[in-house]
Amino acid sequence: MSNLKRRQTTKQLKSHSDMKIFRQQSFFPELCEAETRKPVNVASVPQRSPFRYPGGKTWFVPTFRDWIRNQHPKPEILIEPFAGGGIISITALFEEFVSRVVMVEIDEDIAAVWQSVVDGHAGWLAKRILDFDLTKESVIQEISKTDVSVREKAFQTILKNRTFHGGILADGSGFLKHGENGKGIRSRWYPATIAKRFNNLELVADRIVFRQEDGFEVMQEYSQRNDVVFFIDPPYTAGGKKAGKRLYRHFCIDHERLFSLCQSIKGDFLMTYDNADEVKTMARAHGFQMRLIPMKNTHHAAMEELVIGKNLSWMDRYAAVHEPFAEYKVNGK
Ligand SMILES: C[S@@+](CC[C@H](N)C(=O)[O-])C[C@H]1O[C@@H](n2cnc3c(N)ncnc32)[C@H](O)[C@@H]1O
Repeated sequence: MSNLKRRQTTKQLKSHSDMKIFRQQSFFPELCEAETRKPVNVASVPQRSPFRYPGGKTWFVPTFRDWIRNQHPKPEILIEPFAGGGIISITALFEEFVSRVVMVEIDEDIAAVWQSVVDGHAGWLAKRILDFDLTKESVIQEISKTDVSVREKAFQTILKNRTFHGGILADGSGFLKHGENGKGIRSRWYPATIAKRFNNLELVADRIVFRQEDGFEVMQEYSQRNDVVFFIDPPYTAGGKKAGKRLYRHFCIDHERLFSLCQSIKGDFLMTYDNADEVKTMARAHGFQMRLIPMKNTHHAAMEELVIGKNLSWMDRYAAVHEPFAEYKVNGK
């Protein structure tokens, strides 16, 4: 980034609440990365979610910030209809981009965590995590308990998320075998860090509306409001892609219906998807713009993910972002 550009960026950000973050790091980490044609460095983003979430969007946070801070007037509510680990909603609250978020998640294990946070049990969860002596036996004993309260279920979810391979909660998932540094089942168990994230969540819990429902219904409910924006990150199963099936218990969604719903939205939305031909065809058919953005998957392989929205011209200043190939263009768009 040139000095002049950087000075202009600083000026733009002067009144912004996350100024400190940008001062400590580079001003727009994603822009710097883009210039060297590398995916975003996730280490430059505060890790605020208590989950280790498959398909988590921490890497997308810098781009999300850029999108939402350019919304005029400032939106009142952010809706996340497929919340999962919820990093985008939490970031929006901590960085004061919106007054409230509506997080929607259909999976009962994940829902138990968000519900507990909203019900004021984040501090209890933090203490439970700090006090727990984690061994394979203690985890098995804990997660096999049935008829538990919502907050105990939330604790079970965090245990599974931290000790199952890849953080995957879907049926068929199993314990970490070797884990990091041969530490096996304990290799992703950082009690102090996870507890701190829960304690921090207490600071924003009263600004979260959580709903264990079908994300489609909630999208429909808010679709006609101008003061609402949507961040949409559905399970990827379009075009026969298998990733969503392996990672999530609830992976089967009507992608065509999702695109139709997006078209009916009055406010703005930003959607991320797998770079699949079927997805690009649907996006074109509904008149949306698309950009491909570099990312690294869980195996650290460089890939590209599709970003879909009403107007994505703001993304054109990222050197590594580009439109999908022209053969998918129809009607001269
Ligand atoms: C790609 S993940 C979201 C990841 C999230 N953006 C993050 O950063 O952690 C998709 C999520 O949608 C959830 N899901 C699937 N079908 C749903 C539905 N109909 N309504 C609400 N959530 C759903 C899955 O359980 C999964 O957690």
